[in-house]
Amino acid sequence: MPHLLGRSSFGDPKDSGNLLPEAEALQLLNEWVPNERLRLHMKQVAAVMKAWAIEKEGADEITARKWEQAGLLHDADWERFPDDHCRVIIEELERKNVDPEVLHCIASHGPSYFGVEPVSKMDKMIYAFDELSGFIHAAALIRPTRYEGMDVKSIQKKLKTPSFAAQVNRGDITDAFSRIDHSLDDVIDFIIAHQKDVA
Ligand SMILES: [Fe+2]
Repeated sequence: MPHLLGRSSFGDPKDSGNLLPEAEALQLLNEWVPNERLRLHMKQVAAVMKAWAIEKEGADEITARKWEQAGLLHDADWERFPDDHCRVIIEELERKNVDPEVLHCIASHGPSYFGVEPVSKMDKMIYAFDELSGFIHAAALIRPTRYEGMDVKSIQKKLKTPSFAAQVNRGDITDAFSRIDHSLDDVIDFIIAHQKDVA
């Protein structure tokens, strides 16, 4: 169900470079998200976002932390405020003077739900990672050896099996990849490598 945000500008440019201290971001996550599996999802997306920023985008430390924090908090209000998902966490982070690029990234992680188009590379990558990361984790959970020995081909095959993790919207994944110049194979491989050890 769409939760249109009704705006495309978030935060205040004077807050550029401001992030929550890591401990505060984790505290917010723990307070707002009782569901351990959902918390793990956000930690996994955070780890993948940070690693991608450093390895693929040559990001400096502050930029890598922006990618990481957007990943860590993108679904922070989903459990407590399902009818206002995205709006509540963005307003909270605006009150805490968080960097506008982080806010825009969170706001654009599901364009068909929130009505905000991904603009920056950070926006486009969170959109590409989000569903796929959850999908790969669902695939790991049904394997006796979890991530150990998991290959890209088996994930591609499951994506073509509509009954597997049926709640994962394949259309969103296709749309996300139409906006970036990276192959699905490469991104699946990257996600497996960087989220497998997140606990
Ligand atoms: Fe998510």
